[in-house]
Amino acid sequence: MIASFAGANFDPSVFPDPHTMDLRRETAQHLAFGRGPHYCLGANLARMELQEILCVLVRRLPGLTLAGAAEDVRWTSGSIIIRPARLPVRKG
Ligand code: HEM
Repeated sequence: MIASFAGANFDPSVFPDPHTMDLRRETAQHLAFGRGPHYCLGANLARMELQEILCVLVRRLPGLTLAGAAEDVRWTSGSIIIRPARLPVRKG
């Protein structure tokens, strides 16, 4: 049996409105980096990289939005990691 960390991270009883990307969320109970003895060794590096990337995006491209409807984004499948196949954006 394989539990889905990603699924747990969308639990609406822990994360209100889980499909909204809210950078100000304060809930620290997510499982993105796993849990227990195999907790991600690169978690601190990953957090630092993500903070830098998100700051650059917000500062340099403050109006960045999807160039289309969110429902039209195609997602990859067939792997444990799911991501947008393409993510066209435009400057606001
Ligand atoms: C956003 C970026 C990342 C995410 C979401 C992530 C997520 C995870 C997760 C969920 C696990 C636990 C897997 C399990 O329980 O079997 C894990 C383990 C691990 N991660 Fe990451 N990771 C990230 C970045 C990184 C980086 C940047 C490094 C190294 C530079 C790294 C190194 C590792 C290692 C070595 C383990 C295995 C730890 C062990 O089994 O004891 N990760 N990661």
